[in-house]
Amino acid sequence: MAYKRIVLATDGSATAQTAELVACSLAAATKAKVTIAHAFVDPSRAEAAVARAVRIAEETGLKKTQTALSPDDPAEAVVRVAEEQDADLIVTGSRGLFQGEQLIGSVVRKIVVNAPCDVLLTRARDEADRQHGSPPYRRILLATDGSATADRAARKAYALANRIDASMTLLFVGHPKTGELVLGDTAKSIGEGAQVGMIILEGDPAEQIVGTADKEGFDLVIVGNKGLTGARAALLGSVPRDVAENAKSDVLVARTIAQNLSEIRPGEGGIVETGDHKVAVYRHPDGSVTALSATCTHMGCIVRWNAAGRTWDCPCHGSRYAPTGAVVNGPAERPLPPSDL
Ligand code: FES
Repeated sequence: MAYKRIVLATDGSATAQTAELVACSLAAATKAKVTIAHAFVDPSRAEAAVARAVRIAEETGLKKTQTALSPDDPAEAVVRVAEEQDADLIVTGSRGLFQGEQLIGSVVRKIVVNAPCDVLLTRARDEADRQHGSPPYRRILLATDGSATADRAARKAYALANRIDASMTLLFVGHPKTGELVLGDTAKSIGEGAQVGMIILEGDPAEQIVGTADKEGFDLVIVGNKGLTGARAALLGSVPRDVAENAKSDVLVARTIAQNLSEIRPGEGGIVETGDHKVAVYRHPDGSVTALSATCTHMGCIVRWNAAGRTWDCPCHGSRYAPTGAVVNGPAERPLPPSDL
């Protein structure tokens, strides 16, 4: 999570002010570029809202901020700016212009569901916590189910925690024996000697994540947008959605179903979405990439990267492909064909 391009969606509201402060201090810590996005209904409000965000950015020491104003639907405008900027993070208040009775308004939900990148939802803060440039988080709670995508989120989260000098704790909700294995593996996947706390709980995942964050005083909760217990068909899983709606802390929804090309490290594979199709991308140790159709040639399921076996595995009937696309195991008989990125 060394973010390179951050889109700050602001509307001049109280929660947006927290988003402005958090986005700017994260950008300062990770040396990211910030684009301030404002979708306005009333142009006369736009100037004041953006001016405050620009002032906060300057006071934080950021020199090159851009602004993007749009009269379009706020969610569509923010997502479009993120796509145009190839952003890896959108920071937004959890309500405000994005008004709504619920903690997470419909516009924010639309952003989370459609964002091409991670989305950080900020809550309103006390005056005392609104200090420019101070690290935005001290204690990070990362919920994991042990999936490959959750492992990737864990590695990114740990990198972020190191950048901002925060501690990180892994949380697994489920059977204790499984939890021991999953958290042990997750810690290993983060890297040798990683300093992380571990909590294993049983019960409803969303309730336990929200309750733990609240009771233990975590100020940032990170969840993958998919991968936590069930909800495979939804773009935003039910657990991340419930956590985003109910946590009192800020919530970072890490986009784990597909990733940016730049996030795939040498020796790793990942599914990248381009337009309306999914591409299985393998980055060779020398940095070059092989891009293949992610659609299994047996019956059309989407393959997943198997980090342990270094193969593309189909979850439906067990076909397995080499990083070159060649069939390693059937029932598929034809290789994954090359694809454009
Ligand atoms: S669809 Fe992939 S193995 Fe059947």
